[in-house]
Amino acid sequence: EDSPRVFPPYARPTLIAHRGDSGRAPEHTIPAYRLALEAGADFVEPDLQITKDGVLVCLHDTTLERTTDVESVFPGRSRTIKGREAWPVADFTLEEIRRLDAGSWKGPQFKGLRVPTFQEMIDLVRGHAGIIPETKAPEAYEGLGLDMAGLLMDALRKNGLDVPGADPKTPVVVQSFSIGSIKALRERHGCKLPILALLDEPGQVTGEAIAGLKGLVDGIAPSKNLVLKRPGLVDDAHRLGLSVTVWTFRAGAAGSSQQVREEMARFLGDLKVDAVFTDNPDQFPRR
Ligand code: G3P
Ligand code: CA
Repeated sequence: EDSPRVFPPYARPTLIAHRGDSGRAPEHTIPAYRLALEAGADFVEPDLQITKDGVLVCLHDTTLERTTDVESVFPGRSRTIKGREAWPVADFTLEEIRRLDAGSWKGPQFKGLRVPTFQEMIDLVRGHAGIIPETKAPEAYEGLGLDMAGLLMDALRKNGLDVPGADPKTPVVVQSFSIGSIKALRERHGCKLPILALLDEPGQVTGEAIAGLKGLVDGIAPSKNLVLKRPGLVDDAHRLGLSVTVWTFRAGAAGSSQQVREEMARFLGDLKVDAVFTDNPDQFPRR
């Protein structure tokens, strides 16, 4: 009953599987991406990091210890970051990262899963859903001489996915918290793909602030809280021709699937947002 109103880059309601189906499988693993496709995700999200040898891999954190067994495989290779022992992705080659178990942290049944490259993710998802890569912490890599926006565009070009409409079955939308990265994509690398600005501060969703994004991005991607705290945000964005994509919808520790389903329905219905990032794509309220 919800007639799609088209804002760039997609019609609502759009389902984005956040880090894959990260509710039912370890985030950013092949099974998580596969489950997302089975759940009918319109887009699958890879967060991007860069290995020491310059390869894009799918991982949320800039360091490896939360989601892999790097601590026991490479005990002597940590650094102290913000007073904590950490193993930065950028300190390890792809070959080294491939030795890590990226599944066991979520449960013994996932033992042996690997950190996928962006190329593997593309190969799996292509033809079945869209891809919505996030340039994650690009500034951290800039200091190391690694240009994440450039690597992303190279990878998309190599796959023939770097222009809008190149593969109707696999639309590509880029997202970033970093305005610097978005400008690098547009200005340095000539990116014509739709881009979303990820927003997490109240100062970023004033009328003036979002009007300032018009022309640079195609949509805004605020957190749920920002949408709730700033009445009129969705209408204001829509008036500017910007889509609104909201993050992150997830079943709580108690695992209430009904709750997350109702929450998504409320944002897509009453609040009229265009798309949701969710850890639970199987709970998406179907159109
Ligand atoms: O990219 C949307 C959402 O994923 C932003 O938060 O930290 O999960 O990447 P994060
Ligand atoms: Ca993300």
